[in-house]
Amino acid sequence: MYSELLGAVKAVAVSFLAFLVFTIIRRKWFSSISDIPGPFLGSFSVLWQIVHSIKGHTEEETIKWHKEHGDFVRIGYNEVSVGHPDAINEVLKSQMNKGDWYRIFSLPDARYVNQMSEVDAKRHIAKTKNVAPGYAFSNIIKAEPFVDATIRLFGIRMDELCTANLPVNFDEWFNFLGFDIMGEVTFSKQFGFVEQGRDVGNAIANTRMLGVYVAVMGHFWWAHDYLLANPLIEYFGLAPSLHIFDTCLAAIDARSKNDKVRKDMIEQWMDMRKKHPDRMEEKEILAAAVANIGAGADTVSSALQALFYNLLRNKSLFDKLRKEVDDADLVGVPAHEDTQKLPFLQACIKEAIRYHTPVGFGLPRVSPPGGITVLGRHFEPGVILSVNPWVIHRRQEIFGEDADDFNPERWMDVDRAREMDKNFLGFGAGYNQCPGKHLAHMEMCKTVFILVRDYDIEQVEKGRSWRCETHFTAVPYDWPCYITRRNK
Ligand code: HEM
Repeated sequence: MYSELLGAVKAVAVSFLAFLVFTIIRRKWFSSISDIPGPFLGSFSVLWQIVHSIKGHTEEETIKWHKEHGDFVRIGYNEVSVGHPDAINEVLKSQMNKGDWYRIFSLPDARYVNQMSEVDAKRHIAKTKNVAPGYAFSNIIKAEPFVDATIRLFGIRMDELCTANLPVNFDEWFNFLGFDIMGEVTFSKQFGFVEQGRDVGNAIANTRMLGVYVAVMGHFWWAHDYLLANPLIEYFGLAPSLHIFDTCLAAIDARSKNDKVRKDMIEQWMDMRKKHPDRMEEKEILAAAVANIGAGADTVSSALQALFYNLLRNKSLFDKLRKEVDDADLVGVPAHEDTQKLPFLQACIKEAIRYHTPVGFGLPRVSPPGGITVLGRHFEPGVILSVNPWVIHRRQEIFGEDADDFNPERWMDVDRAREMDKNFLGFGAGYNQCPGKHLAHMEMCKTVFILVRDYDIEQVEKGRSWRCETHFTAVPYDWPCYITRRNK
């Protein structure tokens, strides 16, 4: 009996091993993309992507491979990273479906498919139309007084830290600010991070864990429904960012009892649903709110940190920005319109997003039935083609020989800036591009302005490198600063 069992186990093990070897050989040598160079692990599995997602530097590794091997790099058994700027038009701006990897963004659970997690191009475009009025600049600008109020509160907290001579962890504070602005604009309610000056319910710390989960488990999206996207996780209160989801749900629920709600994003979406109940389901509203929360805070924090971290390493650039800000002679939180008249402020923001692009992951799209030709090469249906914004942003023929350096001056020449803009992928491109860019830009302009005008900033350990890991978003941390009120 025992020897029969042992024999059966051996047979299963041998069959499994044979299957494994067969799969590796087939993927490595007999795939339509076998000739494309790339890391060994990527030639038969998704292990290369997983390893570097966990290590936190997929963007650097992808740049390295492209620099050594050209425009196509095979980073997965079925995925090719395309590093040429033409990929913006040929891949991102085409209407290919998104890679299944994105399905992982269905949160709080699998019932809530949002813009980010909808991989079918047609359905995605329909969803985008439904929620577009909420993101339109004409709507965002109506929220300006509430954005200003949140930034004023942020200023008060900065003053308190100055007075107490306590270091500021910008990774936390920019996230607090980003989340609270997001709450104001989405459903007229802050999450309370800036008010309380702390990571309520460990929501932000948990969001970081969520970043690793998303980057890795996106490759196994089919398991997501049984893990984080399982409704039982919500039911038993096990979701990692529960405070955020709960606040979101409570704010949406509260408005049904309040007839004096602002024309915030949710209200715009509810209007859209009233007008077109046939094309927008009720759950799309919560799904879109959750997508905002997932996409709109740590990205802004990452960009703001990149700006200050790099300006602190270049005094002449910091001084130039400060002079422009001082000369503008604006009081309080400046009007968005006024910040648009400050070219160097705009250049610094653009450069921070180019140089340290908040989304550091290859954006995957799927070759359609019939295949697709990209950079003159035909790809069979189903092959994943991804474009990593970091790779494009380091192309010297577009951004100059100093593309590997932080240099806002490159954006000061209007003609050159127009050309570079065509290849700027900070907010993505095509039907998936970031709908939150107006809001992100507004909050960045204002926040940078007040910090540069009102405070001297220096790292607690001058010149020490920050820590930064890139999963989907590049997340810098651990570079505390002292800030002091300026005497002007
Ligand atoms: C500096 C800040 C930001 C950066 C750099 C950024 C960048 C991006 C990028 C690159 C994408 C496209 C990803 C892809 O192709 O898969 C994206 C998508 C998205 N972003 Fe942003 N984002 C920022 C802020 C925001 C804000 C403030 C919001 C919310 C108001 C937001 C909401 C979204 C949403 C909902 C998507 C999914 C769009 C879709 O798939 O159709 N983002 N963002």
